[in-house]
Amino acid sequence: EDRVFKYYSDGEWKKSSSRKSVSIINPTTRSVQFRVQACTQEEVNKTIEIAKVAQKSWAKTPLWKRAELLHKAAAILKEHKNPIAECLVKEIAKPAKDAVTEVVRSGDLVSYCAEEGVRILGEGKFLVSDSFPGNERTKYCLTSKIPLGVVLAIPPFNYPVNLAVSKIAPAIIAGNSLVLKPPTQGAVAALHMVHCFHLAGFPKGLISCVTGKGSEIGDFLTMHPGVNCISFTGGDTGIAISKKAGMIPLQMELGGKDACIVLEDADLDLAAANIVKGGFSYSGQRCTAVKVVLVMEFVADTLVQKVNAEVAKLTVGPPEDDCDITPVVTESSANFIEGLVMDAKQKGATFYQEYKRDGNLIWPLLLDNVRPDMRIAWEEPFGPVLPVIRISSVEEGINHCNASNFGLQGCVFTRDINKAILISDAMETGTVQINSAPARGPDHFPFQGLKDSGVGSQGITNSINMMTKVKSVVINLP
Ligand code: G3H
Repeated sequence: EDRVFKYYSDGEWKKSSSRKSVSIINPTTRSVQFRVQACTQEEVNKTIEIAKVAQKSWAKTPLWKRAELLHKAAAILKEHKNPIAECLVKEIAKPAKDAVTEVVRSGDLVSYCAEEGVRILGEGKFLVSDSFPGNERTKYCLTSKIPLGVVLAIPPFNYPVNLAVSKIAPAIIAGNSLVLKPPTQGAVAALHMVHCFHLAGFPKGLISCVTGKGSEIGDFLTMHPGVNCISFTGGDTGIAISKKAGMIPLQMELGGKDACIVLEDADLDLAAANIVKGGFSYSGQRCTAVKVVLVMEFVADTLVQKVNAEVAKLTVGPPEDDCDITPVVTESSANFIEGLVMDAKQKGATFYQEYKRDGNLIWPLLLDNVRPDMRIAWEEPFGPVLPVIRISSVEEGINHCNASNFGLQGCVFTRDINKAILISDAMETGTVQINSAPARGPDHFPFQGLKDSGVGSQGITNSINMMTKVKSVVINLP
């Protein structure tokens, strides 16, 4: 299939006047799967202008009605799970079953958001003045949460649907309008998801989706004066965006180098299963993937043996066959991963599997005896390659974790809850999982990164709050 999908603006599907398109390369076949419109800056302007107008009346739409429409969109999204999942398989090589899960999870997220929204936006605060020194009870302050205006959502390729709706739903329930710029890989899945919101019957222009080259409309969107909030998930680009953006709230989730610390008293079967699931699901292309294992020397041999046994069970091949390890998203990504592997090889890491690559498909690799002078000790491969660093003390593990410029999540395996808590407190990451691999979900849990891993906090409740502003009205009594 090779056609140019239209973009969505003002409630209609449109062709760009640029007459140009952006190609989406199927990571498995490495040939063009789809094309999307290369929107112009003029078209972005128009879309944002319309979003601004649509938002004004949407903010006056009763909260329960906004929720009702979101519930409808969620149901339609779930009905369309198969065609959307098929796009994910073709565009980002997500294993078929995981692709369906992504869409279902997204429907649930939208519904939960509608429910949470009516609760938390349905109440405000009432304050009285005489609790502050020097005041009589002559002032009553009423607070409520008001929308920000136009929210710009930029999700990454690894969850083009789920990380889009995790921005769309909170923005919409809170009374904002939303402009989506999907990732190139995953753009068609995103357009199909937007179609579900279209079918649900949201007002024209409230939600729109512009596609195109980052070099053409990326900065233009993020620096646009009509944008009142940016919610971005992705890589380094986020740091550049945050430096250029105006005085608007930002929500950013960038990379991670999630460490997995394994203590001597850990349940090593449990740890091994989680390391493989955490390190290799979707071929390691998750910001929350386990990206470095820090294991106490005493149990290292046993753990590595158990992990290797699990790695050997991973199936490798096309996403259509629901293989565990599928081709990574682009050739340049595969090249980058290969660079990290070669560097580790040259510097003496232990390879338990032979390095094997066919196109974008890279066979899973566990690299042992990794040392801090190797790039893989610090950089995120975003691929099916997992480094193991042997440590002689817990402090060494914590120090390695905290020396990273990332601070998304981490995990610790031990049967000693006191140690687990102390280590969790010492790890400079947004979340620490005790006895499980890092993960964002369940989607109402707070999700945030420290340092270069992000700005603000996500999760349904936090996102709704972040996409609003507090407004006060003070009643002054005579
Ligand atoms: O890639 C970043 C995602 O936010 C990770 O989500 O933990 O559900 O895979 P996940």
